Amino acid sequence: MPSLLSNRLTKWALRPVAALVDQRISRHTAGLRREVTELRRKQHGVSMLLDRTGRGQHRMPTPDQIDTLVREVDAATDAGERARRNVTVAYRNVVALEALGVGRMAGGTSNVCGKLATIPLLARPEGKDRHVLEVLEIGTLHGLFAAALMRMLHRTGIEATLTIVDPLAGSQLQPGTTDHEEPTGTPVREDVVRANLALGGGRPGTGARIRQGFSGDPRVRAEVSDRKYGVIVVDGDHSFEGVLADLEWVEQIAAPDAVVVLDDYGDARWPGVKEALDKHLAGGDSRLTMAGRVATSAFLRAG
Ligand SMILES: C[S@@+](CC[C@H](N)C(=O)[O-])C[C@H]1O[C@@H](n2cnc3c(N)ncnc32)[C@H](O)[C@@H]1O
Repeated sequence: MPSLLSNRLTKWALRPVAALVDQRISRHTAGLRREVTELRRKQHGVSMLLDRTGRGQHRMPTPDQIDTLVREVDAATDAGERARRNVTVAYRNVVALEALGVGRMAGGTSNVCGKLATIPLLARPEGKDRHVLEVLEIGTLHGLFAAALMRMLHRTGIEATLTIVDPLAGSQLQPGTTDHEEPTGTPVREDVVRANLALGGGRPGTGARIRQGFSGDPRVRAEVSDRKYGVIVVDGDHSFEGVLADLEWVEQIAAPDAVVVLDDYGDARWPGVKEALDKHLAGGDSRLTMAGRVATSAFLRAG
């Protein structure tokens, strides 16, 4: 049994060691504090670029979300390695265009990147040089998604011609919803859409056709039905009746082999979208067949 005296002697003898350990710990802690402060500073800059302030949705996907998206794109397109490349490039475009553009793209990061990554992989351009494609977007909001889509198509060599249909009524219109505050504060107007489309590149002097009005308006339909489209993005009126009416129109204006994208399919906030497509396809006389689902978009191929 060690005596009281020998205990005290041991403690006394170990005092310099304890002091040294304390010193090392406090130096290490100070280093960690400096590192955390520096990381917070860097994180703040990244957050300013990617968080939801001013657009309603953040752009900070987790690695799991991206892996899931890549698997879904691959399943819908059979693109293998190109699925990850397209998702990555789509994400960079979303961040770049929302940073530089006016307003926002509607939808979460997986939804937006899913559409941008998948459409170029499914699109089958027309013409001798196989690079001409007519694209129709029903419902554009600020036109930023359309600009990003033009970039994504162009990088695969496709020079697309864009037609847009939207009431461009100053704010987003959705039947059954009350007027909500636009998180960007940016009006939904033609000048805004044009400013954003300029970021999409393309051939100089060949601007997009913007038809202001509702997709169900006979005047708008007559003007826009002057050609067949190789890509149609249906993202306007999200009600059951609205989507059903758009799908009926799409049957008439989709080119053979066209890709039709129905946004927000399966999104619990817009149940009418899924109900309408399911009913439309159940009719049995549609030219459209389901090619796949990516995030909350349905991709259809026209026969
Ligand atoms: C969800 S936003 C479109 C988002 C855009 N495609 C994007 O990805 O950023 C829906 C747009 O469709 C418009 N809209 C509503 N009803 C429409 C209709 N019947 N025809 C065309 N556009 C419509 C809304 O005013 C709004 O600008």
